[in-house]
Amino acid sequence: LAALAVAAGMILSPSLAAAKCDAGEKILKFSLVTAIDGHPKGEAAKAFAERVNREFQGSYCLEIYGNSELYDDDVVFDALLSGDVHFAAPSLSKFGKYTKKLQLFDLPFLFDSPLHVMEFLSTPDALALKNSINTSGFQGLEFWANGMLQMSGARPLRVPADAAGLTFRIQPSAVTDATFRALGAETKTLAFSKVYDALASGEVNAQYNTWSNIQTKGFYLEQAAVTETNFAYLGYMVVTSSAFLDGLDQATRDKFLGLLKLTTHERNRFAFEINQIRRQDIIDDDGIIIRLNEEELQLWRDAFAPVWDQFRDEIGRDLVAAAVKANA
Ligand code: LMR
Repeated sequence: LAALAVAAGMILSPSLAAAKCDAGEKILKFSLVTAIDGHPKGEAAKAFAERVNREFQGSYCLEIYGNSELYDDDVVFDALLSGDVHFAAPSLSKFGKYTKKLQLFDLPFLFDSPLHVMEFLSTPDALALKNSINTSGFQGLEFWANGMLQMSGARPLRVPADAAGLTFRIQPSAVTDATFRALGAETKTLAFSKVYDALASGEVNAQYNTWSNIQTKGFYLEQAAVTETNFAYLGYMVVTSSAFLDGLDQATRDKFLGLLKLTTHERNRFAFEINQIRRQDIIDDDGIIIRLNEEELQLWRDAFAPVWDQFRDEIGRDLVAAAVKANA
């Protein structure tokens, strides 16, 4: 496993949440809801903090808080505005209060693979999305990758009809809500930190997430099986407040943004691999993964297809078309 971890570019040093800041350094906080070690976002945040703490030695110290230790994603936005935290990387599904455009990424079966997502994210149409939340006092900085979404339930999900009547935990996304309702399922919006207990108690009996989230939080332990559908993409926008950014002098700001860009380039290419390792961990732990053949996958595509027409105008027809083009 150590060899695999090194191959995936993981940094095996202890969590920087425990890093000691020197006296006189200004402490900055990065708040995450996910695991830190062995997780695409956690490892990226750690790599960013290592860079910041090396380059800004004596002036700034960046602390990483994982596992919703500080804030759930619904409240982290206010914490950014009040200056209690300085960086967060909520999933693209969690910006709905500030822009409808990022719901794009929740459209079912929009991207053929994580590579196509990465391709789209480097286009001007996608880069412009970083400014889509400016009017609310935020600045999107970089897109961080996690991976494709899988789903699981209290009973095995092989065809869409298997999901009817289940209650899926969802992120706060109208598109995702419509996606599962298209299957005849119920939905319940819950913070990531509440999902495991909700599955264990039966408050919800189905969920969807990436391999890394399902494995690091043990969701598969409370489910009959995880079905490999890759039905949508879960990624992040690193976000800060405009007030924090504008408060830095130009050279400091450029240096922060440069270090973040470097980290993004370095880490995003490992996200897919980390998810594959976490997937294997589930298998090694006797978790059951259902793989679908092409005909079965097509049934899920067909079941979800109506969702596109429901949201195309709200998201923006041109934006949807530009994303589809990335699959070409
Ligand atoms: C979720 O709430 O399921 C995810 O957005 C968590 C995360 O940050 O990956």
